[in-house]
Amino acid sequence: MSKANVAQIAGDGIGVEVMDSARAVLDVLLPLTGDTIVWTELDWSCERYRKRGAMMPADGLDVLGRHDAVLLGAVGSPDVPDHISLWQLLIPIRRTFNQYVNLRPVRALEGVPSPLRPELAADVDIVIVRENTEGEYSEVGGRFGTGTPLESAFQQSVFTRVGVQRVAHYALEKAVARSGRVTVATKSNGIVHTMPFWDETVREVASAYPVTATFEHVDALAAKLVMRASSFDVVLASNLFGDILSDLAAGLCGSIGIAPSANIDPTGQFPSMFEPVHGSAPDIAGQGRANPVGMLWSVVMMLEHLGMLRASALLMAAVEQTLRDPGTRTADVGGHADTRTVTAAVIEHLTKEQS
Ligand code: NAD
Ligand code: IPM
Ligand code: MN
Repeated sequence: MSKANVAQIAGDGIGVEVMDSARAVLDVLLPLTGDTIVWTELDWSCERYRKRGAMMPADGLDVLGRHDAVLLGAVGSPDVPDHISLWQLLIPIRRTFNQYVNLRPVRALEGVPSPLRPELAADVDIVIVRENTEGEYSEVGGRFGTGTPLESAFQQSVFTRVGVQRVAHYALEKAVARSGRVTVATKSNGIVHTMPFWDETVREVASAYPVTATFEHVDALAAKLVMRASSFDVVLASNLFGDILSDLAAGLCGSIGIAPSANIDPTGQFPSMFEPVHGSAPDIAGQGRANPVGMLWSVVMMLEHLGMLRASALLMAAVEQTLRDPGTRTADVGGHADTRTVTAAVIEHLTKEQS
């Protein structure tokens, strides 16, 4: 029996809808296992930005810092530029709280149709370890000569030795605990300063582990992921490459709507943040059609992180059972069910399990 304080940021669009699903499921699950979560519900979103000119209050990060974890739905709205909404909320959380690992497991789940031929789709079980605080995502740069013929924009990638080493250690430890193999995404043939540095640093770290590290240029890796997804295990990638590869891998397993993620500070000094890989999906927001599985699987990862291991295992089993039934799948995974129907089915599996 554990107790935790969790900050909830539902955000925008389907973020709100999948958060409702998560809360409804947890309301039933936690009493079954005797665990307790005390919630702080925060309305930080594009709606708040429209009303008050900021995505979160000035002391927002201090507020989050007093919690054991953050659960986030999704952020982003077509009427607020993405570089404002995300850089005023999601990205500062990841950076301030040193969440330098973005852990993104992708698995072929029974009942979820893959766009791959069945023999290629079976057994896919990949863990993407994405560097989450530096790399191609940086604030260094600017626009110059605006409105003149010489207008230009510069964006500086930042790879630090410490930043690369620490995420490499995390990925290598994962690989030791799994198959002993890690594939490292690079692009040292085209990006000639940062990527050779990334490769050298990862190679140095890897030499101390009983792990086979294979370096693949990210373009070739993208093709191999499609052609033989089941041969990959742990994939280590920089911030941008990991972002792209994680949506690709989720698509290969059927839908971005099922993919979870954990933004982890492995030192435990700061709260970690859990969120589905997908965004606010303005194209389907408000229609009740969002797949809640990516969010529920993120909750599974959060519960595990909080030491609520039985709750975590029960929820994953209930999600898997729900997906096995064609009647309780959303449209993105080939079904006709709405978010509420899928949520109710997960709850029913949880309660059946206990009776
Ligand atoms: P998206 O992930 O929101 O949507 C991509 C496609 O996948 C859409 O067609 C959408 O309908 C579908 N989809 C996504 N999640 C789904 C689900 N749970 N169930 C069913 N279908 C689902 O990506 P986008 O369209 O590039 O971005 C929309 C907004 O979200 C933008 O503002 C973007 O910046 C933001 N975004 C936020 C996060 C985050 O908060 N972590 C992540 C990604 C994108
Ligand atoms: C993700 C998202 C974010 C990212 C965006 C919204 C900034 O795509 O979490 O994958 O690129 O990290
Ligand atoms: Mn992404």
